[in-house]
Amino acid sequence: MILDIRGINTYYGLGHILHGLSLGVAEGEVVALLGRNGAGKTTTLRSITGLTPPRTGEIRYKGRDIVGLGTHRISRMGIALVPETRGVFSYLTARENLSIARRPGSRWQVEAVLERFPKLREVLDRKGRLLSGGEQQMLAIARALVTGPDLLLLDEPSQGLAPLVVEAVVGTIRELKKERVSMLLVEQNAEMALQLADRVYVIDHGAIVFEGTPAHLRADRQVTMTYLGVGG
Ligand SMILES: Nc1ncnc2c1ncn2[C@@H]1O[C@H](COP(=O)(O)OP(=O)(O)O)[C@@H](O)[C@H]1O
Ligand SMILES: [Mg+2]
Repeated sequence: MILDIRGINTYYGLGHILHGLSLGVAEGEVVALLGRNGAGKTTTLRSITGLTPPRTGEIRYKGRDIVGLGTHRISRMGIALVPETRGVFSYLTARENLSIARRPGSRWQVEAVLERFPKLREVLDRKGRLLSGGEQQMLAIARALVTGPDLLLLDEPSQGLAPLVVEAVVGTIRELKKERVSMLLVEQNAEMALQLADRVYVIDHGAIVFEGTPAHLRADRQVTMTYLGVGG
């Protein structure tokens, strides 16, 4: 396991959000974390990246407990987050957004990343705020890659995108999967995630309520209807 979360409890102030949550991502695996709005998906990613560290439990990354390490440290260890808000700098061009993120030792240099995002190359000199939603999402993923991650965390990459653009994002993630980038893909869009995932977890009220393959999940009407609101 490149990532092994064991029984974490995460709070915002007095609000107890994650209740003994455990999940794992193996090397080269794409794992989906599905659940309704407010279930605790983003909080799980915040726990991993150190933005909101858990109060109890362990998060093992490459065998080492990273709870309590700072966000910069965790990022330097090779965990990159593509946040829900995408975090593209509006007044920097796409090219500048990439150059401030890149790291010298990264196995993903800017040129190599751009080869995977031909559309992005066309808008390199455009300011972030002038990019479409799809272009911003591509830029956010590209920017995460140039930091040289071994584990990529994606928070609802399909959110707010038109179906055709979602397909383009799916294509990109599929390419990364071929290159054995380990990924934790958080989605409300179960259909999108199930196309990509090797394994799936469903979260509800801060706890895992299902773990299995996409095929198992599709076959489980009880789970899909109760926790994902689909499959009826
Ligand atoms: N900064 C915060 N302060 C207090 N409560 C929060 C904060 N962010 C999220 N929450 C609460 O934590 C729960 C889980 O939220 P979140 O992890 O964002 O869910 P999801 O990403 O699955 O939609 C929700 O009940 C939400 O209202
Ligand atoms: Mg969220």
